[in-house]
Amino acid sequence: MTFCEYKPGLEGIPAAQSSISCVDGTKGILEYRGIAIEELAQKSTFIETAYLLIWGKLPTLDELEDFETDIRLHRRIKYSIRDMMKCFPDRGHPMDALQTSVAALGLFYSRRALDDPIYIRGAVVRILAKIPTMVAAANSMRRGNDPIQPNDNLDYCANFLYMLTESKPDPLSAKVFDACLTLHAEHTMNASTFSAMVTASTLTDPYGVIASAVGTLAGPLHGGANEEVLLMLEEIGTVKNVRTYVENSITNKRKIMGFGHRVYKVKDPRATILQELAEQLFELKGHDEYYDIALELERVVEEELGSKGIYPNVDFYSGLVYRKLGIPQDLFTPIFAIARVAGWLAHWKEQLAENRIFRPAQIYTGLHEQTYIPIDER
Ligand code: CMC
Repeated sequence: MTFCEYKPGLEGIPAAQSSISCVDGTKGILEYRGIAIEELAQKSTFIETAYLLIWGKLPTLDELEDFETDIRLHRRIKYSIRDMMKCFPDRGHPMDALQTSVAALGLFYSRRALDDPIYIRGAVVRILAKIPTMVAAANSMRRGNDPIQPNDNLDYCANFLYMLTESKPDPLSAKVFDACLTLHAEHTMNASTFSAMVTASTLTDPYGVIASAVGTLAGPLHGGANEEVLLMLEEIGTVKNVRTYVENSITNKRKIMGFGHRVYKVKDPRATILQELAEQLFELKGHDEYYDIALELERVVEEELGSKGIYPNVDFYSGLVYRKLGIPQDLFTPIFAIARVAGWLAHWKEQLAENRIFRPAQIYTGLHEQTYIPIDER
């Protein structure tokens, strides 16, 4: 058998054919189903974008209303899931709470009918509807409070912010948050999507698919970077420390969080939009001193590492937006998951349509023909 060249991280190796999204990393273009992300962030909503990603077309007004209504009706989570969540340790990371809770949905909705469109739609609706409720509930319960019930009068994003704070968000905050979810909803073959597809290819239930994707998203090289960015800005402390921080990072081969991307070799188009959204929020709610540090960091990193194609990625400015919305730092990655679930579900559906189980090869580098040594002779 012949093997093609081994590429660590499968860099550049196609793992699937997909019509869901497309990135041009040298021009800084991202499209969902052929529509530019800038246009969707400005004109669409997260729920409409999720429909577009999952069903491959923009919904009609009736289709969108049905979809929104179904999601609204399924926002609540069962008492037993809430009781289970109450037992989670209050210092556990909310991403672990989310992964466990999503996996638990599989215990309660265990019918698996992957060739039944009604089952598929039900699972899509349930997952999209319940994940924000679970994130907000975990946040309340770790503080010793009861979860805040979903508010049926509020749309998807306003309701999530309401469940976090028990107060209705102002219209700009809700709109900005909605655009953030749209920007994070899908991004071709990233680690968590690949993880979802590998799991999906075994024909397991969709809750297991999403649980594995959540686990993969949690790492600091992937979705966890948005949380790390704020920790880094905190550590830098003031604008005048930026250059030393960058130089030390380069000398010590430490990655600067929120910069660099396997595909983009220019500034991530989502970072540009998120920066604009952050500025809109600062105008309404007041300036954030971390933004000055972030701007200087972008300038110095471009100077030092721009030649290597290291520019801000989606995680660089999202944390500043969430911080201005009053969202706790360790919820940034669960919020990424709330958004990315749309993309994972789209890939799950696409995988099922032409399924073949993933079973890559490996290049064995170990020994052969060794003899077993009895334990008392080792
Ligand atoms: N800071 C400093 N140098 C960097 C950075 C960075 N953030 N990212 C890449 N480089 C350098 C790296 O040191 C290497 O240099 P050299 O060739 O001299 O050894 C070169 O650029 C290539 O880096 P790599 O690690 O081989 O690139 P990769 O494609 O394997 O990794 C990445 C991509 C996103 C994991 C990486 O850029 C990184 O760790 N960034 C920081 C974490 C981060 O912001 N992650 C969020 C990614 S975007 C959202 C998401 O996908 O979830």
